Amino acid sequence: MQRTVASLSRGFGRRTLATLDASKVTITNTSQQSQPRPNNELVFGQTFTDHMLTVEWTKANGWGVPEIKPYGKLALDPSSCVFHYGFELFEGLKAYRTPDNKITMFRPDMNMIRMNKSAARICLPTFDSEELIKLMGKLIEQDKHLVPTGTGYSLYIRPTLIGTTDGLGVGVPDRALLFVITSPVGPYYKTGFKAVKLEATDYATRAWPGGVGDKKLGANYAPCILPQLQAAERGYQQNLWLFGPEKNITEVGTMNVFFAFKDSVTGRKELVTAPLDGTILEGVTRDSILSLTRERLDPAEWDINERYYTITEVAERAKKGELLEAFGAGTAAVVSPIKAIGWQGKDIEVPLTPGEQTGPITKQVAEWIANIQYGKEKYGNWSRVVAEL
Ligand code: COI
Repeated sequence: MQRTVASLSRGFGRRTLATLDASKVTITNTSQQSQPRPNNELVFGQTFTDHMLTVEWTKANGWGVPEIKPYGKLALDPSSCVFHYGFELFEGLKAYRTPDNKITMFRPDMNMIRMNKSAARICLPTFDSEELIKLMGKLIEQDKHLVPTGTGYSLYIRPTLIGTTDGLGVGVPDRALLFVITSPVGPYYKTGFKAVKLEATDYATRAWPGGVGDKKLGANYAPCILPQLQAAERGYQQNLWLFGPEKNITEVGTMNVFFAFKDSVTGRKELVTAPLDGTILEGVTRDSILSLTRERLDPAEWDINERYYTITEVAERAKKGELLEAFGAGTAAVVSPIKAIGWQGKDIEVPLTPGEQTGPITKQVAEWIANIQYGKEKYGNWSRVVAEL
C-alpha cells in the first residue's frame, strides 16, 4: 500500500512514501553458520544468532528495502539524535520450538501494536505490523537451527527503532533505523526459576500520570537501575515500584506484578494487578494471564481484578493471613514468583508451597502459559508459525 504526500522539495507533482514491505527483503547469508550452544551455556541476551534485520526510514522516502544480513555493528554519526535525546524504543517477544517441529512466535501482533504506540509517542515512524511480523519470521527462518529446544528455552526477539538524524538540534527525526536481533535464551535470572525478594521502593518513581510508563522506551529503563542497585545492597533482587501518597503497587523490576488474596471472612479469592492507566506497561504476559485466569479459574471462588491496591493493603492482609501469593509477569522471565517484600525495615513474607520456589496459583499460571507457548496446547491465534523444521 502506498501513501501519497505533496512534494515539498520540488513544489510540483506528488510523491509516494514507501511503506514497510516484507516482500522486498534482501538476504545476505553469513559466510560461517554458527552451531547451537548447549542450553546450560545460554545466558539471557548474551549470545546472538548469525543474522539481523535492518530497515532504514527517511522522511523523504519512507521505509527502505528491508535487509537480512550477517549480525554486525551499526555505524552512526556521534551527533545522531538517538545518542542525545533518547529517540529509542524496543520490544521483546519470543519464538518457541513445538513438539510437531515448528517454530512459533507468541502473540507478535500484541508487541507490534505496542511498538507502534511507542513510536508514535516519540515521533518515530510507524509501520504495518503484519509486515514486520513477516520480516521477523524470515529472520528466524534464517537462523532456525539456533532456536533452543526444551521448556524454559526459547529465542528472544528484540525489535528496536531509533532516530538517526545527525545534528544536535532537538526536533522530529527525519531519519530512523528499525533493526531486529535475536538471542537464544534460557531462564532470565542467573539463579534459574527461584522465588525473588523485592524491596518496595517509594523514594524513586518509575512512571507517573501523563508520562510514558506505558511505552517501551529505553529511557524508562536506565533510571531504574540505581534504585535496583540500592535494593541489591540490602539483599533484594528487584524493586517493587510504588506510586503516589497512597503507595499504590505498580510494577516489579521490569515486569508487571500480580498478587493473590483470600478474604478471611467471605473465603473469596482475588487475583489482582494494577489497571492500565498510562503508568503501567501493557504487558503481553499480563494480558495472557488475565485472559487465562478469567477463563479458567472458578468464578464461584475467584475474582480477577485490575484495580488500584497499595503496599499497606498487602502488609495488612499478610498480617491477617490473607496474602496467598505474588508473582511478576513479563516476556523475559514469563512468571517470576515472589517470596518476600522489604517494606519499612521489615520483610512481608509471601507464602510459597513448602519445599518449592513457587505457590500453587503461580505454578498453575506458569504451566498454562508454557503449554501454549511450547505448542502443547493450541490457544486461539496466540502462536504464529514462522518456520517448519
Ligand atoms: C520483560 O520482562 O520482558 C522485560 O521487559 C525485560 C527486558 C527489558 C529484558
